[in-house]
Amino acid sequence: MIITIDGPSGVGKSTVSKSVARKLGFTYLDTGAMYRAVALRVKRDSIDINDDKGLESLLNHTEIGFGRKENGDLVIMLNNEDVTDKIRTPEVSRLSSDVATKRAVRIKLVHLQQEMGKIGNMVAEGRDMGTYVFPDAAFKFYLDASLDERARRRREQLSQSGDDADVESVKNEIIKRDAQDMERSESPLHPAINAVIIDTTNLSSDEVTDRIIKEVQG
Ligand code: DC
Repeated sequence: MIITIDGPSGVGKSTVSKSVARKLGFTYLDTGAMYRAVALRVKRDSIDINDDKGLESLLNHTEIGFGRKENGDLVIMLNNEDVTDKIRTPEVSRLSSDVATKRAVRIKLVHLQQEMGKIGNMVAEGRDMGTYVFPDAAFKFYLDASLDERARRRREQLSQSGDDADVESVKNEIIKRDAQDMERSESPLHPAINAVIIDTTNLSSDEVTDRIIKEVQG
């Protein structure tokens, strides 16, 4: 069974998706981390993403997968290197939204995601899970929240990792990423027609998790 959880930046998808997966004993698939890993590789190799040949060659030499640390924490691997922490910088966030507009990147990652989905019970989190990658998913959710609340949540997350960005600049970053993720021609972000839309502005992550579990368990 596949459960898809989509929505814009800073809405709290990761926290909720992880906890839904834990409660149901499902595998958690963080597809944003895959776009971020490609972005990190683009940054390291100083590739111009508009150079189709260069991008294609980079993708041919890029292996992305997931693993687990000894303590059970999920890690993302880029060519056998654990890049879990390195993909969370503001620069990689920005670049991941840019690389996600590229068809060649999406073709490669969507194929990988669909292969991973064959393993079985999975909570798949991203932007296009319910619309393009797993259109036949058993349950589809779309999380939303006001811009102010999303900026507040993202800022809190950044400050926990020692980055004291001001709320206005966090808000501007979110506005830019929303626009790019929603207006691109390749698999733009929007709710699937049969998705349950949850406005999380005034809900805690535990409340959102409970709503999803209730829906799934009937
Ligand atoms: O969820 P995130 O912030 O880690 O995602 C980073 C970027 O990757 C996001 O701005 C858009 C892109 N992305 C995508 O296009 N499709 C997905 N399924 C997941 C992420």
